[in-house]
Order: sequence, then C-alpha cells, then structure tokens
Amino acid sequence: MNIIKVKDSQAGGKKAFELLAKDHQDGTLHVIGLATGSTPLSLYKELVQSDLDFSKTISVNLDEYVGLAASDPQSYDYFMHKNLFNQKPFKHSYLPNGLATDEKAECARYDRVIAEHPLDVQVLGIGQNGHIGFNEPGASFDSTTRKVKLTESTIEANKRFFERKEDVPTYAYSMGIRSIMQSKKIILLAYGESKAQAIKSMIEEPVSENCPASALQQHDNVIVIVDEAAASLLGK
Ligand code: GLP
Repeated sequence: MNIIKVKDSQAGGKKAFELLAKDHQDGTLHVIGLATGSTPLSLYKELVQSDLDFSKTISVNLDEYVGLAASDPQSYDYFMHKNLFNQKPFKHSYLPNGLATDEKAECARYDRVIAEHPLDVQVLGIGQNGHIGFNEPGASFDSTTRKVKLTESTIEANKRFFERKEDVPTYAYSMGIRSIMQSKKIILLAYGESKAQAIKSMIEEPVSENCPASALQQHDNVIVIVDEAAASLLGK
C-alpha cells in the first residue's frame, strides 16, 4: 500500500483530486467507484470546482440504505446528487435501489452493472470498525452485492446524519469485497482520530475478515490518504 500523509481533510481531498485528474487526463478513468459519508466530501468539492468533464465517465456507488427512496434526503442517492452529480454530471451514475423489493434481483442487477462497467478506480472511506462500503466485520472477502445488516457500531456512527437513532435504516445493499478488490486502483481516505485503529488494523495487522479493509493488503494498487490523527497509531 502506498500511504500518503496529509495535514487535514482539505489537503486529502486535493491529493485525491490530483490523482483522479491525472487518470482522467491520461484517458484511463472510464468508470469510477464512489463512496458516501463525510470523508469524500472534500474530494467532491474539488471535483465540483474543477473543469474536469465527466460526461463520458460512468460512476458506480458502493451502497444504499434499504428502505429509502432516492428522493429521501437521507439516501445515498440524494447525497451523491447534492454533493456531486447535480453540479458535475456523469454519463451515467449507478446506485443500488433502496426501494427494490426483490432483493435477489436487485443484487444480481447491481452485479451486472459492475461486470459491464469494470472499475478503474474505487474511492473508499472506512468505518471505525474497519468496514468498507457496508461490508461489516465478518463479511466474506468473496462477497458480491447483497443485502447486509448494519452493526450497532455503524448505526451509532451514522446516526449523526439522522434526526433520531431509530431513523437509521438497519439494512443496506452493498457492493461486496470481491467487487471492490476487482477495481484496478483503490484510493482510501481516512481522517480523524476515530479512524486511527481501523487504519492500523487495515495496514499493520494480519489480513482478517474481522477487519474488512485489511483485504486491501492483497491488492497491488492501493493508495491510502490519511491525516495525522488517522495515522497516529501506525508504526514509524
Ligand atoms: C458509511 C459508508 C461507508 C463510509 C463510512 C464512513 O458507513 N457506507 O462507505 O466509508 O460510512 O463514513 P464517514 O466518512 O462519514 O466517516
């Protein structure tokens, strides 16, 4: 893994933007995997302010809450439109459909989307428990898109986006770890002390399904952009 330490999330967003802009310029960025959460926001700001043209680029998001319509302000679809797609439209942007009632059909549809649009770069955040997408600890490294139950720790961490904790959906559709690993390049971003243990487990501890992000040790093109706080538990 190539670890890049930055001062703060703003600098991290700039660094990630530079990497993506270079691939875009080189003509190698046809399909980009995108993430939600507060972490990628500084990157999305950079993308929005840039003059990069994504009208020929496809985006594929990692996950969506089960039970939320795309128009629901808490949905990831809404988040992506508000923070990126409305200002910077892509040729097509794919997300799982949170309202899909036929779970199997929806997961198969999304796996087809990923198969038809192989990821050139996947942007990732990381959960405090080491989750990527919504692949919680214990998720198989062989997983593809499926409906997952969110852990208490993830619900607790994500409740800040909702009025009440009870409003946080308990299930999500998530791209699997196998699909994430098939991306040619992965850029993982992490900022703040609350991510320090997850970053240490991901980079320095043995690969284990207890830390889904540790799967990335087995990928040969991973760039990790961290601020000092998120890197604070790493060995020198
Ligand atoms: C959610 C998303 C993840 C994201 C994580 C961290 O659970 N499914 O893709 O990486 O939150 O979020 P944040 O960046 O807000 O800390």
